[in-house]
Amino acid sequence: FVRALRSKGRKQLSPPGPWSFPIIGNLLQLGEHPYLTLMEMRKKYGDVFLLKLGMVPVLVVNGMEMVKQVLLKDGEHFAGRPNMHTFSFLAEGKSLSFSVNYGESWKLHKKIASKALRTLSNAEAKSSTCSCLLEEHVTEEVSELVTVFVELSSKNGGFDPRNAITCAVANVVCALCFGKRYDHSDEEFLKIVKTNDDLLKASSAANPADFIPCLRYLPLQIINAPREFYRALNGFIALHVQDHLATYDKDHIRDITDALINVCHNKYAATKTDTLNDSEIISTVNDLFGAGFETVSTCLYWSFLYLIHYPEIQAKIQEEIDGNIGLKPPRFEDRKILPYTEAFISEVFRHASFLPFTIPHCTTADTTLNGYFIPRKTCTFINMYQVNHDETIWDNPSLFRPDRFLNENRELNKSLVETVLIFGMGIRKCLGEDVARNEIFIFITAVLQQLKLKKCPRAKLDLTPTYGLVMRPKPYQLEAERRSSGSSSAS
Ligand code: HEM
Repeated sequence: FVRALRSKGRKQLSPPGPWSFPIIGNLLQLGEHPYLTLMEMRKKYGDVFLLKLGMVPVLVVNGMEMVKQVLLKDGEHFAGRPNMHTFSFLAEGKSLSFSVNYGESWKLHKKIASKALRTLSNAEAKSSTCSCLLEEHVTEEVSELVTVFVELSSKNGGFDPRNAITCAVANVVCALCFGKRYDHSDEEFLKIVKTNDDLLKASSAANPADFIPCLRYLPLQIINAPREFYRALNGFIALHVQDHLATYDKDHIRDITDALINVCHNKYAATKTDTLNDSEIISTVNDLFGAGFETVSTCLYWSFLYLIHYPEIQAKIQEEIDGNIGLKPPRFEDRKILPYTEAFISEVFRHASFLPFTIPHCTTADTTLNGYFIPRKTCTFINMYQVNHDETIWDNPSLFRPDRFLNENRELNKSLVETVLIFGMGIRKCLGEDVARNEIFIFITAVLQQLKLKKCPRAKLDLTPTYGLVMRPKPYQLEAERRSSGSSSAS
């Protein structure tokens, strides 16, 4: 009896945390950069603590060991998603990434999505020497991007590369999902890909509308941005899906949408289950399209900023490209022979940590963490930014230093690369990691092979991010000029 009593006592020990106000909880304390505030709070409360956002208790997890405990060792208990107002609009609640339904049919959904993405990315290239379809699409888009950069620079001198990058990256995912690319000036396309800052802010961990329900009814831009954006996105995707349903041919799978329609047709044979309905399967395309362009384009927007901020790092990457691949168009397999370029990309992931938190998780059952009792349905924030700036892992974490990822033989230290936390881990890990890493590599190498990027004279660059689910740098301008030794075509 005494043991039962003790264990009950231990079970009910709640994580520590700051005192909170009624109704708003700790929302106001989070400030402009919540990931930094939470890093500060960790000093006082430890790796695991509890906040109140509005009326909702939120568990915050920091430190590599605790993060591994939550995402890997006890992954099943932390693999749910909370019921968030902001995310409920994507794919009308059927989203793979955001839906609150976690269980066997969700696992099957993730398997189907991963398989469709992998199969189509690795499919044979149509008309080039590229190793696969993804490589071909990226190569085409980067070639167009280089042309656009040169045009913008010759017209205006300095220009903000953000829209051009977003169009190029969105075209890659569009080509994979729908077999179609758009011109950078296409109005329909621009409406979707120019996600505004309000949307990113609203989709962040700690949007008040997710935690104080009455705010949802106020006509504020930050509250309504997700609804408007997702309505437009869902409409854009629905049109493509209708078109595909009308022209589908099972012997000629053109893209991911066709592959998903195929899964619906062969559902019983392919998956031996009927737990997923057709509209859920097809809605996967919303998830892949939505997740596939904002993340990668933000990464490139950061990368170009670091490259003009640190011209000596840019020169070192160009030296490596010139020495190891010369004028040959870069290919995925060249990642092995460009370790400094790979180190640069890892340092961008780490230093910018442009996804400071994973998408919020939620406990699927009562559990314990670090000796604390965590009830079922507890919303959980995983602070990836903190892990990427943890002084016990990284020497001088605030310095931008790609060399930290190379050993004394100038080879990539793979285990350190894997320590950077940007795609999550475990059951909820990003399913686009391989696509993203390959895509980012080609965009950076092909641009730097052909262009020298420079900051505008007298411009002051600012590396402070704007907070959101995905954190962008503040708008900036650059100049691009053709390198005399660079090749003139990337295809
Ligand atoms: C989920 C990062 C690119 C598809 C996630 C998560 C992160 C992430 C942190 C959430 C993990 C969690 O909740 O624990 C990134 C980064 C990218 C990137 C940094 C680029 C640099 C992509 C691409 C695709 C994609 C290119 C697809 C084409 C997804 C999907 C999920 C996801 C479908 C939801 C997974 C789930 O809920 O289980 N990503 N991602 N991502 N990502 Fe990515």
